[in-house]
Amino acid sequence: MNNEKIDQLLDWIDNLDDKTEAEVEEIRVKLLGKKGEITQLFDEFRTILPEQKREFGQKLNVLKKAAQEKIDQLREAAASIIAPEKSSIDTSMPGENLDLGSRHPISLTREEIINIFKKFGYCVAEGPEIEDDWHVFGALNFPPEHPARDMQDTFFISTDDNRVLLRTHTSSVQVRTMEKQQPPIRVICPGRVFRNEAISARAHCIFHQIEGLYIDENVSFADLKQAILLFAKEMFGESTQIRLRPSYFPFTEPSAEVDVSCNICKGKGCNICKGTGWLEIMGCGMVDPNVLEASGIDSKKYSGFAFGMGVERIAMLKWQVKDLRLYFENDVRFLKEFETL
Ligand code: PHE
Repeated sequence: MNNEKIDQLLDWIDNLDDKTEAEVEEIRVKLLGKKGEITQLFDEFRTILPEQKREFGQKLNVLKKAAQEKIDQLREAAASIIAPEKSSIDTSMPGENLDLGSRHPISLTREEIINIFKKFGYCVAEGPEIEDDWHVFGALNFPPEHPARDMQDTFFISTDDNRVLLRTHTSSVQVRTMEKQQPPIRVICPGRVFRNEAISARAHCIFHQIEGLYIDENVSFADLKQAILLFAKEMFGESTQIRLRPSYFPFTEPSAEVDVSCNICKGKGCNICKGTGWLEIMGCGMVDPNVLEASGIDSKKYSGFAFGMGVERIAMLKWQVKDLRLYFENDVRFLKEFETL
């Protein structure tokens, strides 16, 4: 029997380096297959003289074990690595940087508004998006036949006696705050609201609001006007002016719409403000005494004001976004424009 052959094979096995899975299989067949070289050596072994058997037997077993171990080892390595020369992937190439996301303009605007009011001493209050009729309408002095309660505006979840619905404004959170807490109250209520509207460039069935509520002794309309003026200057710049137009909300009396001077044309008139020099930003008013009483607050002792604005609208005005739907599409090219803000 040929000692040299065994040593050569051992040496060859020892020097094998990484292979693909198919190559490992070829090696297995070459060594240990039915007609493999080691298999043949074992066949030869049967024919040798008994006195040689001990020596060769041991050597052959060492060889077989070495072959088996090497094959197992190569197979494991092949499963985890794709041999570079067999693959179209060049693992030595530098990787492509993954695009980092950026904060959504609605989150940024929401945060900016909240921070301004926090400086004025307001706290953030939150409440459920799924509400009952009382917190969204009843406690806010909406008459039973008010059109906002209509199926056309409100998404109802159940319409039995205890109506369950998606809140149409975050005034519901103001009601929940008044129920829990006696004045002084100074809260802002950010959150998602839902209205059954056809989706267009100017309207969406889901949007975000921030409403505010201030209740204490001797709170007047002048306080409301001053709070809103300070907010407008912080949000749109020091030179910003405001004007109030009479309006109507069931929960405030008197009520007003607030316009800010157009920050694009500085009041001269442009296509953003449609030539008027003014942009509407929110609704506001003095809290109706009925609303205070409905939540257990003494309307003879306390008075207050409330206001509410759409975050999408404020962001549109601030950055001249022309189509509301862009906020919901999450196109990275749009979102990236707000990256450095
Ligand atoms: N709740 C009103 C709305 O959703 C906004 C508002 C809040 C108006 C508070 C006046 C006072 O349109």
